[in-house]
Amino acid sequence: VCGPSGSGKTSLVMALLGMIDITEGRIIVDELDLSTVPRNELRSRINVIPQDPFFMPGTMRFNLDPHNRISDEDICTALQRVGLWGRVSANGGLDMVLSASEWSVGQRQLICLARALLVESSILVLDEATSR
Ligand SMILES: Nc1ncnc2c1ncn2[C@@H]1O[C@H](COP(=O)(O)OP(=O)(O)OP(=O)(O)O)[C@@H](O)[C@H]1O
Ligand SMILES: [Mg+2]
Repeated sequence: VCGPSGSGKTSLVMALLGMIDITEGRIIVDELDLSTVPRNELRSRINVIPQDPFFMPGTMRFNLDPHNRISDEDICTALQRVGLWGRVSANGGLDMVLSASEWSVGQRQLICLARALLVESSILVLDEATSR
């Protein structure tokens, strides 16, 4: 999806996730009108790497696996695949406190990419994930 700044690309992603309400038209995925799908279901089925990554106060592990469902080994592998494991392991491993301001914007997007690698989902949306 291409368009100039402010044309609505991020708004489209938010509509996919049910984060903004649609006033006209419908979004249909696999013959299903998304307005009939509960929001938590949409968010677990549609894997998004946002343009402006947001992190919760807490550890790297918590941010990559907030529901505590994934093994440490798999989380480490995801961090290795995005090239961040060196820094994480040098700073206490998965228990390191993730302070977003200490990471560059591109690195924050890589953390989101690692998080996305850990979610099984058939739809992956990248909102200008390499824009910065
Ligand atoms: N929280 C908000 N409240 C009100 N208007 C908003 C909000 N977020 C975005 N908008 C407006 O909605 C329009 C579309 O914004 P959107 O963020 O979807 O653009 P975009 O195509 O993703 O732009 P960019 O390429 O800069 O990321 C813009 O006119 C913007 O000002
Ligand atoms: Mg945008």
